[in-house]
Amino acid sequence: MAIPVTLIPGDGIGPEVVNAAVEAIEAAGARLEWQRAAAGAGAVPTHGTPIPAETLDSIRRTKLALKGPLATPIGEGFRSANVALRKEFDLYANVRPARTFAGVETRYTGVDLVVIRENTQGLYSGVEHYVDEERSAAESISIITRKGSERIVEYAFQYAKSRGRRLVTLVHKANILKATSGLFLETGRQVATRHPEIQFKEIIVDNCAMQLVKNPNQFDVLVTTNLFGDILSDLTSGLIGGLGLTAGANIGADTAIFEAVHGTAPDIAGKGIANPTAVMLAGAMLLEHIGERTAAEKLATAIREAIASKEATTRDLGGNATSRMFTNAVLKRLR
Ligand code: NAI
Repeated sequence: MAIPVTLIPGDGIGPEVVNAAVEAIEAAGARLEWQRAAAGAGAVPTHGTPIPAETLDSIRRTKLALKGPLATPIGEGFRSANVALRKEFDLYANVRPARTFAGVETRYTGVDLVVIRENTQGLYSGVEHYVDEERSAAESISIITRKGSERIVEYAFQYAKSRGRRLVTLVHKANILKATSGLFLETGRQVATRHPEIQFKEIIVDNCAMQLVKNPNQFDVLVTTNLFGDILSDLTSGLIGGLGLTAGANIGADTAIFEAVHGTAPDIAGKGIANPTAVMLAGAMLLEHIGERTAAEKLATAIREAIASKEATTRDLGGNATSRMFTNAVLKRLR
């Protein structure tokens, strides 16, 4: 029986890369029933909101979504639809793997690490305001709970265990943010004692950024709070060739939403030149999540082989192939 999945094309390059991913997922042999739903800036004129109720209902039914990027106005306007979706479905774990691609020239070889970012708390809690009407100052409240810290660090250890990984590094700033980052670190240390078979290290976020650039291969699984995880996962995607290549999963207790790490790329939207790899790999993560291991493996391998062959290299990776040409190179390997 086909598994129902909510499909959100999103804004900017979203529809281009999401449609390419759907073709590739289907060619990999997975039997999914797509339920198309609107979200993001594109949904505002038609539905009056960036997250229409129908879309939320669809995700409540399917408990599974593949999502394109959603545009969020900077500094004003509606709150991020991405952040709202993560909060609505309590998608507390954001999993962002970064693994070197054969055929993509970067400064590093053999990078294979995963950033696991707490997705619902910290400075993205959305508790923010200006202190007066003149906007002379603004405040943002970072909320970290013991329960929230415990479940994300526990998730990181379970993730490491189930994938044969050996090291979990907790990234913090407890020297300055003694209460919030301090609570995250203290809880993380307690969780680590339950998993003696996995090595545990802790590192201050600024040092972590430097160490990632100096020698990324010293890391394996990184677990951290929301803002640090957001920034570090863009950094790690840069280590392996950029945003066009990096996928992410937003995992909750019963619902999961898969997406690219990149945004709507307004500079190249509508030109047919975006790299669909990230959303395709998000599709492979979705397939793995629902137990379609064979299709997931087949899809990920076809994507990696298409990139390695250099027969259809997109512009972000130094070539001049269109999204269509790259998609065809992937499909050819799947059929
Ligand atoms: P962005 O990721 O859209 O673009 C950054 C740079 O990477 C641009 O030069 C873009 O052309 C390039 N790029 C991104 N994806 C690419 C792809 N698949 N192929 C080739 N090149 C690619 O980040 P930016 O400009 O900061 O954000 C634009 C919009 O996207 C904003 O409204 C932001 O809020 C939203 N956004 C949404 C996210 C989501 O829905 N998960 C994540 C990040 C940003």
